[in-house]
Amino acid sequence: MDDSGIKKQNWDVKETELFLEILKELDMKKCLDGRKVRNNKLFKVAHRRMTAAGYHRSVDQLKFRWKLLKSAYYKCKREPHSPAATKIQGWWRYEKTMVAIMESRHSLVGAGVNSDRNDEVTEDSDGESSMLRWPQPCLDNTTQNLDLIIKMDPEMGTQLKIGFIGAGNMAYGIAKGILSGNVLPVNVRVSAPSSRNLERFQELGIVVTHSNIEVVCGSDVVFVAVKPHLVPLVLNEVSQHITDRHTVVSVAAGVTLTTLEELLPENSVVIRLMPNLPCMVQEGALLFARGRNAKLEDAALLRSLLHHCGLVEEGPETWIDIHTGLSGSGVAFVYLFAEALAEGAVKMGMPNALAQSIASQTVLGAGRLLRDSGKHPAQLRSEVCTPGGTTIYGLHALEQGGMRATTMSAVESATERARELGRKSVPGGRN
Ligand SMILES: NC(=O)c1ccc[n+]([C@@H]2O[C@H](COP(=O)([O-])OP(=O)(O)OC[C@H]3O[C@@H](n4cnc5c(N)ncnc54)[C@H](OP(=O)(O)O)[C@@H]3O)[C@@H](O)[C@H]2O)c1
Repeated sequence: MDDSGIKKQNWDVKETELFLEILKELDMKKCLDGRKVRNNKLFKVAHRRMTAAGYHRSVDQLKFRWKLLKSAYYKCKREPHSPAATKIQGWWRYEKTMVAIMESRHSLVGAGVNSDRNDEVTEDSDGESSMLRWPQPCLDNTTQNLDLIIKMDPEMGTQLKIGFIGAGNMAYGIAKGILSGNVLPVNVRVSAPSSRNLERFQELGIVVTHSNIEVVCGSDVVFVAVKPHLVPLVLNEVSQHITDRHTVVSVAAGVTLTTLEELLPENSVVIRLMPNLPCMVQEGALLFARGRNAKLEDAALLRSLLHHCGLVEEGPETWIDIHTGLSGSGVAFVYLFAEALAEGAVKMGMPNALAQSIASQTVLGAGRLLRDSGKHPAQLRSEVCTPGGTTIYGLHALEQGGMRATTMSAVESATERARELGRKSVPGGRN
C-alpha cells in the first residue's frame, strides 16, 4: 500500500458520502470482516463507480478511507459521550450511514457448523418424538449476500476466473455447479493431459487445455482435482505461477493442508475441500477447511461459488476425514442399502428393473423429506410405524441384523482409513 499517497488524500464531504452510499449498496457490512480488506473485488467495484462519478482514487486509497471510517465508528461506539476528535473531519455527517452499514454485521462463518444443532436429542427421546429436530441445510446469509453482490454488479461475477487442474468426475460436478451461478463458461478453464474427459467441459462452453500452467495463470480460484498421488507432481509444476491473486482449493482425499502449503509458495491461500459424488447432480455435501492464510472472505467466496453444488459447510480440518466417512463413502453405503432394498423386492417376486427404480426413488424421497422437513429421522421413522403394522416388523428385522451398529462401524472404519491415508508421508488418499 502506498502510504505516502494515502496520507496526502483530502476527501470532501460529497466524495465520502458517495463512497459510503456505494459501500452500503454493496452490502459491505456482511461481506467484510472489518479487519481485513483483502476483498479487492468489492473495492474494485467501488473504485469503478467512484471513477465514473468523477472521483479518481486508487483502490488502496479507498481501503484506507474505509479503515479510517471504521475506526471512527468504533471509537464513537466505545465512548459515545466523549467529545474526542476522530481522524475524520466532520465525522457527524457520516455517522448515520456508518451505523447503517455496521450495525447488523454478523459472522461470516456458516452458522450451520457452529450453531446449536440439538445434537443432545438422541434415540432415548423417542417417547417425545414431536420434540425431535434435525438440522436443516444452513441458510447461509453470507453466500446469499455474495451472490447478491455478484448479481448487483454483473461484471464482478463475470470477472472471476475459475480453473480446474484435472478434468475427472469431481471437477465436472463442481464446474457444473459453479456455472449454475453467475460465473460465465468462458471464464472457466480446465486442464488434463489427455482429451478424453475434456469434451464434456467443452460442451459446457468451458475453455480446455493440456497446460496446467495456462489454467493457473488464467484463474483466480484454482481447483486441484487430480488423484491424490498426483498432487505433489502437479503443484510442483505450477507452484512458481501461484501468486497472492490465487486461492488454491484442493479436493484430493487425504492430502492435508500442511502438505498443500508445503508444496506451494509461502503465504499461499489454500483451502481443502471434500466434496462427494452427488455434486454431479448439484446435491453434494461439501465440507471445507481453511489453510493458515485463507481468510473469512476466501471462505465466503468459496461458499458463494459452490452453493449450487449442494450443501456447503466449513469446519476444522479434523472433520474432513469424518466427512469422508459420513458422506464421501456414505454415498456408497446408501447405494448398498438401495441395492439391498431392491433385491428384497426381487426376492418377493417384483421384476428387477422396477424394483431398482422404486428403490432409488424411495432413497431420494426419504432423503428429501429428511432434509426439507427439519424433522429428526427417528421422528419420521416413528410416523411411518403403525403399531403392529408392516414397518415395525421390518425395522425389527433390521435391528436384529445390527443395522444401526453396522452403519456406525462403517462410518468409523471409513474415517479411520481416511486418517490413515492422510498420515502417510506420500499423499495417497483414495475415496
Ligand atoms: N470421486 C469422488 O467421489 C471424490 C470425492 C471426494 C474427493 N475426490 C477427489 O477428487 C479428486 C479427483 O477425483 P475424480 O474422481 O474426479 O478422478 P478422475 O475422474 O480419475 O479424474 C482425474 C483427472 O485428473 C487428470 N490428470 C491426471 N494427471 C494429471 C496431470 N498431471 N495434470 C492435470 N490433470 C491430470 C486426469 O486426466 P485424463 O482426463 O487425461 O485422464 C483426469 O481428468 C481426487 O483427488 C479424489 O480424491 C473424489
